[in-house]
Amino acid sequence: MDHLSIPALALVLLFITLLYRYIVYPIFESPLSRIPNAHPTSPISPLWILYIRYNDRENATVHALHAQHGPLVRLGPSEVSVNCVDGGIKTIYSGGFDKGDWYSKVFANYGVHNMFSTALREPHSKRKRMLSNVYAKSVLLASPALRAICQTVLCERMLPLVGEVVEGDRRGDGDWGKSKTKGVMEAYELFSALTMDFVTAYQFGLGQGSNFTQNLTHCRKWLENYKARQAYTFWPQEMPAFTAFMRSVGLGTLLVPKWVDEANQDIEDWCLSMCDKAEAALQSRSGDEKHAGDYPSVYAQMRASLVKEQVKEESGLAEKQGTSLTEETQLSIASEMLDQLAAGFDTSGITLTYLAWELSKPQNSQIQASLQEELRSLSPSYAKASPDVEGTELPDAKVIDELPLLHAVIMETLRLHAAIPGIQPRVTPSDATLGPPGAEVHGIPQGVRVESAAYSLHRNPEVFPKPEEWRPLRWLDADGKVDSGGEKMRWFWAFGSGGRMCVGSNLAMAQTKNIVAALWSNYTTLVVDDKGMAHRGGYMADPLGSSEGSYLLIQLEKLRAADA
Ligand code: HEM
Ligand SMILES: *[C@@H]1O[C@H](CO)[C@@H](O)[C@H](O)[C@H]1NC(C)=O
Ligand SMILES: *[C@@H]1O[C@H](CO)[C@@H](O)[C@H](O)[C@H]1NC(C)=O
Ligand SMILES: *[C@@H]1O[C@H](CO)[C@@H](O)[C@H](O)[C@H]1NC(C)=O
Ligand SMILES: *[C@@H]1O[C@H](CO)[C@@H](O)[C@H](O)[C@H]1NC(C)=O
Repeated sequence: MDHLSIPALALVLLFITLLYRYIVYPIFESPLSRIPNAHPTSPISPLWILYIRYNDRENATVHALHAQHGPLVRLGPSEVSVNCVDGGIKTIYSGGFDKGDWYSKVFANYGVHNMFSTALREPHSKRKRMLSNVYAKSVLLASPALRAICQTVLCERMLPLVGEVVEGDRRGDGDWGKSKTKGVMEAYELFSALTMDFVTAYQFGLGQGSNFTQNLTHCRKWLENYKARQAYTFWPQEMPAFTAFMRSVGLGTLLVPKWVDEANQDIEDWCLSMCDKAEAALQSRSGDEKHAGDYPSVYAQMRASLVKEQVKEESGLAEKQGTSLTEETQLSIASEMLDQLAAGFDTSGITLTYLAWELSKPQNSQIQASLQEELRSLSPSYAKASPDVEGTELPDAKVIDELPLLHAVIMETLRLHAAIPGIQPRVTPSDATLGPPGAEVHGIPQGVRVESAAYSLHRNPEVFPKPEEWRPLRWLDADGKVDSGGEKMRWFWAFGSGGRMCVGSNLAMAQTKNIVAALWSNYTTLVVDDKGMAHRGGYMADPLGSSEGSYLLIQLEKLRAADA
């Protein structure tokens, strides 16, 4: 062989460099090479995990890999799944690793960032401090607005509606009965309507929030729009560069059809209109003359915090009464409100639907009976709360919060059917160490995508024996009290953990507990058709639905006083 020409030599060098950079280094030398691979191609290509993820098969697939290989599994050249507490979620989430752009691509409404979509720690915690007070447990349990919401949404909207379905005189547009059989309801629709009314009432005030419980048409239309938006997150989230390229050459609609954008527009317009109504209500409010439930608790808090910033930026002057909002501030509030209503209604609606499913299975009838007994022992109880009685007293919010079996039933549902079982991606800072004590991997470079998932954490058989079984009593001790210490709480991850943990977890618990209390104080439920209850298998655990378009049909029967 004669000596090579200069261009050929350059080509050979380039080839060797690429070979080293993309094959040799990731397989043999990267610190990540010390982590077991999910698939033989994982060190050099993300295609395998993208394929699994695209087909909504990630939860069980990755869970099985952890069972086989331990708490660290390498999913791609620069992506690791982590399934342990020490050296895992404590390091990543309590340690405040940044979010990266996985969230910002799909959760920034109106093109404006909110708490959930913000990638970096600093601006995020500033935003979170503005809001966390309205969602604090002590504030919620003492909130006159929340009491009024329970009275209106549960006693005046839900119980009469369910009553009509059970009596068999529900007709027409309000066809909540759905099935031809008397007393049968679609649980997912009912609970979605209730949680939407509940969350938006707390955000915007009862008069300004949604009224889905009394308008099934609107509820169904919204759910349809919302599911459309959700079904197309894969491309922008997992392949942002490719998606941006396709859009730039006018082929974006091959990935995300146009009607999805239209559905999105509907959703954004609707939320803006509630913001406008809340703004008007706030401006016309004087003193405490109005119904407490009409106070827009979250909107008002968000507005006050952002106006303070706006005024500081504009002139450095102190805030004046009635400062009008700039468009930027308006959209900033709306983006936050839309994220919270979406985060707040579907998660809780899913939780309630799976709770109803488990409770209504024949093998759990004893648990249902014990729960009913616990609920009817409340004094005053939801069984006595009636819209016909002026000034009916509701059960005390704190007492409801402390009912042990009610708490256990919800915790166990959040464990087995976590509404967000999917990955919560973060990115490593430089020189990170991951892995359980004794099996750490050091020197992980900056920018590696790392993630845990409630699905796997909640199925650790050492912490949750027989993890696939719904067993609420595992959350109670021998005296029937809530067992809140120990390993279970460290592994419980339905709301995430650390600085980016769910800001609405207390509202979620409060609304779920009150809805369950109001319904099962007065009714017994049985599964009629649960063919639609398989989880979809993605980030969210919503039910897939059956080919007939139903999710969970339950039969409701009035619980007679004598049964109590
Ligand atoms: C059963 C009900 C709920 C469940 C299971 C749930 C679960 C979660 C989880 C797992 C996260 C972390 C997600 C991630 O980092 O990828 C989260 C964050 C969040 N949730 Fe919830 N959530 C529930 C109810 C609510 C409610 C009622 C609200 C508000 C009204 C809410 C608002 C939020 C917000 C704003 C964040 C982002 C927090 C941040 O970035 O600091 N959630 N939720
Ligand atoms: C909700 O809808 C019902 C029935 O359409 C109506 O009577 C009621 O006034 C509405 N409530 C609010 C707050 O919009
Ligand atoms: C129900 O909502 C739909 C769609 O938003 C609306 O057009 C209709 O007027 C509402 N029906 C009632 C009875 O309020
Ligand atoms: C996990 O994914 C499988 C499909 O691979 C699905 O059958 C199952 O219901 C999913 N579970 C959850 C909680 O998402
Ligand atoms: C709940 O049931 C009790 C009797 O067990 C009854 O007195 C009460 O009116 C019912 N409440 C509602 C709102 O249906």
